[in-house]
Amino acid sequence: MVTSYHTALLLMSTAPTERGYWFEEWQDCATGLNRPYDDRVINRFNALSHSRRDGATSQLERRLVRGLMLAPAGANVIMQLGRLGVGRGVAQSPVTSGSLMKHPLKRTRTTLAYIWLALYGTDDERSELRRNVDAQHRHVRSRPNDEVTYDAYDAQLQLWVAACMYVGSQQGYEILYGHSSDVAASELLRRCSRFATTLQVPANQWPSDPSVFEEYWSSGLNLVKFDEVTTRYVMDFIDLRFVPRPLAAMLRPLHRLLCIGFLETTFREALLLEWSERDQRRFRRLCVVMKWVNRLAPRILAEFPWNLVRRDSRRRLSHGRSLV
Ligand code: HEM
Repeated sequence: MVTSYHTALLLMSTAPTERGYWFEEWQDCATGLNRPYDDRVINRFNALSHSRRDGATSQLERRLVRGLMLAPAGANVIMQLGRLGVGRGVAQSPVTSGSLMKHPLKRTRTTLAYIWLALYGTDDERSELRRNVDAQHRHVRSRPNDEVTYDAYDAQLQLWVAACMYVGSQQGYEILYGHSSDVAASELLRRCSRFATTLQVPANQWPSDPSVFEEYWSSGLNLVKFDEVTTRYVMDFIDLRFVPRPLAAMLRPLHRLLCIGFLETTFREALLLEWSERDQRRFRRLCVVMKWVNRLAPRILAEFPWNLVRRDSRRRLSHGRSLV
């Protein structure tokens, strides 16, 4: 965080000082997270500081390609594990090459590649992605006497995982831009259908509009369940037991705040996680600071790690290397 604060200060002293821009940014941050985002602010900043943008990027893509979109990622992992079949599948996977706990960097890279290519890849790229992920998922299925049955190919379980990913995208969008308009929400939902349909979920199973999604989501919340095995996995994840100890000790408070802060009450209650008013205030302050830093950062930093993921994924594809 110290580095982020320093970066913010540096940016504030070097970035464009057009009065209107700073004034609007200040107003935006001062009013918290719920103010609908005003495009003029970011467009003006982009015009001033990023004169050479890629021609092909859509407005939605430009908005989503921000490092801060990943702030809810930890909570998202937990939400996905909240469906018992997924939780057990992940916690008891017989294969470990893509295990978050055993190969966190590799798993982060492959998950980001999935998100990137599912959202923006061509049909051929998405087919290749599907082939690669299928090869891993093939091994993820319960055995005959297991107490919980699961199969990573199960379309209902995949739908849940993809729905969580969509909720995470909404949360990231909201920190950066405030509540999305109806049009933006529908566009985001449509685009995020690719999280599901790139694998085995038929297109007609993806909710057709945000209100249908809300119904799906609230009935999904009724099925949230963690047992002893998956709770232990989640707690190890929150406590960063998969990174070297000194680093984990340093990052744990921030990781906890982000993980629990982005969780809906249903998940917190199911996991008996404590969350006070004070935690909520700290979480909201953190979101505002992160928003400032990410919005004002130079493009190369603001878009990290997506710029790296884009290049790495395309290079892997062109060299015929596996994406996962
Ligand atoms: C839309 C839904 C899903 C997406 C986008 C997705 C994505 C991925 C990706 C990209 C990998 C490759 C990781 C790597 O090898 O580095 C992976 C592996 C894995 N997935 Fe999924 N997955 C989904 C659904 C599921 C479900 C429903 C389950 C469990 C029932 C599951 C369990 C696993 C496990 C255990 C691995 C690790 C396999 C290994 O260690 O090699 N996934 N998934």
